[in-house]
Amino acid sequence: MGMTLEQAKEKLAKYGQEQVLKYYEELGEEQRRALLDQIEATDMSILEKCRHREELVKKGVITPLAAMELSEIRENFDSFTATGLEAIRAGKVGAVLLAGGMGTRLGSDAPKGMYNVGITRELYIFQCLINNLMDVVKQAGCWIHLFVMTSDKNREATESFLREHAFFGYNGEYVHFFKQEMAAATDYEGKIYLEEKGKLSTSPNGNGGWFISLQKSGLLELVKSQGIQWLNVFAVDNVLQRIADPCFVGATIQKGCAVGAKVVRKNAPDEKVGVICLEDGRPSIVEYYDLTKELMETRDEKGDPAYNFGVILNYLFREEDLEHMMASNMPLHVVEKKIPYLDQDGNLVKPDAPNGYKFENLVLDMIHQLDSCLPFEVERSREFAPIKNKTGIDSVESAKALLQKNGVIL
Ligand code: UTP
Repeated sequence: MGMTLEQAKEKLAKYGQEQVLKYYEELGEEQRRALLDQIEATDMSILEKCRHREELVKKGVITPLAAMELSEIRENFDSFTATGLEAIRAGKVGAVLLAGGMGTRLGSDAPKGMYNVGITRELYIFQCLINNLMDVVKQAGCWIHLFVMTSDKNREATESFLREHAFFGYNGEYVHFFKQEMAAATDYEGKIYLEEKGKLSTSPNGNGGWFISLQKSGLLELVKSQGIQWLNVFAVDNVLQRIADPCFVGATIQKGCAVGAKVVRKNAPDEKVGVICLEDGRPSIVEYYDLTKELMETRDEKGDPAYNFGVILNYLFREEDLEHMMASNMPLHVVEKKIPYLDQDGNLVKPDAPNGYKFENLVLDMIHQLDSCLPFEVERSREFAPIKNKTGIDSVESAKALLQKNGVIL
């Protein structure tokens, strides 16, 4: 059945979004139906939040949270690794690849994982990640379930690419795809753009919805029936990261924490990474733009900067703790973004600079909802090579150099 035109108009009037029906009369029957369905499905109540951006993510009282540093990890390496391998071999660890983002900064239309970082051969980002996971598969002598989150915009391309490449040697029976949800994207006044005459502009709703989407897809059932107790969530763009790293898994288990977070020592007090800390006594992450000068300059008892460890989007979540979290609300982030839109004359424009907002939940906000977190230091030159841009900081260039440094043939 779906929403009628009258009902759609009523909803749009309530949120001041009538402009999305501008081309309704020009549309065919099917397109009209699709547009009405999209209007029905879209949560418009969140859009007005773009007018109160500064109030959205209020921080509590920030205090330091000590990380487990490299020296301590080295001392306990064998013991942590043995605990981690035991859990992996018992099938208790799964991996979740967050690949639903748009990768706009990289500027390629294809999913980021399809980017070729090879020089003398083809070497795709997805391939780097799978190679890294394969190291652990070989070490443990068993396959690890890999859940891949995509969005409406890149699901097909991602799945067919991985299938065409036979999952780069991974066992396809252990690879599972699920889709995250989309949210409307607006101009700076909070008005939803159109990306086609019969289609609202949308953007994936952020990486923080991964657990809810996993559940909606039905895959959480598989997680449970397989006895997976730990989910290692990781970003698509860090080509050096270790996935299901036995030492990290073992350390988090031995410390009895609800989540482990891989962190790197910051290379400058103002480096643009989210910093691990306590907020009102609970684990949390302060984004670099919220890190005040005072916090930046605070020292711990050893004289080191007290907020010195940045997260790299590689977290090990204890699954049962996530289920308790679901009911509670995650904060909404309103982020400036380049959003393709139809101009006054109905022509599609792909802007070169941000022209509006996308609305997102972020995985880092999940940390604050958990009781305990182990920040686990990793060496940045060996485990942190994120690809956000084409050149410069966190780029294809810098990642290629780091891959080569680590002996990967490009
Ligand atoms: P980024 O913060 O780099 O965002 O994502 P992005 O959208 O991919 O890239 P830009 O900002 O447009 O250049 C960090 C990780 O979270 C995933 C990304 O795929 C990446 O692995 N992500 C991001 C999602 O899975 N879904 C989202 O909605 C957003």
